[in-house]
Amino acid sequence: MELPFAESWKIKMVEPIRKSTRKEREQWLKEAKYNMFQLKAEQVYIDLITDSGTGAMSDRQWAAMMLGDESYAGASSYYKMKDTVTRITGFDYVLPTHQGRAAENVLFSCLIKEGDVVPGNSHFDTTKGHIESRKAIALDCTIDEAKDTQLEIPFKGNVDIAKLEEALKKYGDRIPFIIITITNNTSGGQPVSMQNLWDTRVLANKYGKKVLFDSARFAENAYFIKTREKGFDKKTIKEICLEMFSYADAMTMSAKKDAIVNMGGFFATNLKDWYDMAKVKGIAYEGFVTYGGMNGRDMNALAIGLDENTEFDNLESRIKQVEYLGKKLDEYGIPYQRPAGGHAIFVDATKVLTHVPKEEFPAQTLTVELYLEAGIRGCEIGYLLADRDPVTRENRFDGLDLLRLAIPRRVYTDNHMNVVAAALKNIYDRRESITKGLEITWEAELLRHFTVEMKRAK
Ligand code: F0G
Repeated sequence: MELPFAESWKIKMVEPIRKSTRKEREQWLKEAKYNMFQLKAEQVYIDLITDSGTGAMSDRQWAAMMLGDESYAGASSYYKMKDTVTRITGFDYVLPTHQGRAAENVLFSCLIKEGDVVPGNSHFDTTKGHIESRKAIALDCTIDEAKDTQLEIPFKGNVDIAKLEEALKKYGDRIPFIIITITNNTSGGQPVSMQNLWDTRVLANKYGKKVLFDSARFAENAYFIKTREKGFDKKTIKEICLEMFSYADAMTMSAKKDAIVNMGGFFATNLKDWYDMAKVKGIAYEGFVTYGGMNGRDMNALAIGLDENTEFDNLESRIKQVEYLGKKLDEYGIPYQRPAGGHAIFVDATKVLTHVPKEEFPAQTLTVELYLEAGIRGCEIGYLLADRDPVTRENRFDGLDLLRLAIPRRVYTDNHMNVVAAALKNIYDRRESITKGLEITWEAELLRHFTVEMKRAK
């Protein structure tokens, strides 16, 4: 008999979690104004709000924490981190920041001005926020296929090269750089192929533009290239990473994802002028260039996390668990963005809650239902997160409306996934009876989903 698949690690430390009653959850949710970010974590049983900073560090990472060098300038921890980043990405200049959005802030402060256009593949919300807050435009050039959740193609995160070329022709000098997000979070944790990275590079060169990778989940992207793209199955993840980054000029990194640390990020590049510009902003916003908002101990953990998570076995354990949840949903016929993503399953809420009008936010409604059903906290990646159009102030209903179930790395077991799938099945079975969604009672101008206040629609 062929042996079944199992994780490439065992558990050394555990953290108790608690169930609650539906009555308690109804009360807590009302107090939180139907916003998952306003719940207390102890009111949650299985927390899938994000895979960011929620992973379980390895024993080697914890051991490295004890050896942190907390010197203000020139700490050995910085050099450990920098050398690892350089070895894995090929970038020599490395500027630490406290997390990914801070790297965006530092870099975009130097590069983006009012009226600019930044094309890319489904910019993440903080990325979009940092572009739009500078009165520039985040132009989505993702392939159209990404919008069809039921279509199963291997690289659904790809940039549409024709759309990108059109943008390059149309906006010319208004484009400071092109950004590619690997994997593409907003369209479902979907990967970008090596071919597409190359094609984007070629086009960027033709128009004299630089390419920035938003790299939060670059190792997961490399896993998909290895397992799905022709010609890469014999290559190691680290070889694939080096090739991917050879097509970029720079990267911003949220280390809270693929470096499996609870806090941290960086900007890295081989462009000395970009580094010299960024380091000045970095000192002002984050801290001196050899710590930039991070502790020495965290930089040590980051170095090891990055090294471990660019190994095939670790990535396989993680991505197979996401796939496992996808297969359970298949059994129950629950529609999600296909194929299963690298870090999450994205349930297609508009296909589940067909009677909830878009003005009442189906994905947020489904997120609320899942919490009430079993104390599971997911996250809306849909009409709420899309914010309003900066010019017309209309809600943006043109994208997908998804409930994201982000799986923290090395934290939950497949039994937890079974609970999540069963809770969703219960909701799916009574979906016809759910006809009312939610209404906004207060919202911020940017990144509204974090603080939005809602009530049940009448
Ligand atoms: N880029 C991508 C693709 C992201 O997914 C995130 C964060 C960031 C940048 C910003 O990084 O949080 O370290 O400041 N995504 C988290 C999520 C929050 O839940 O998907 P950060």
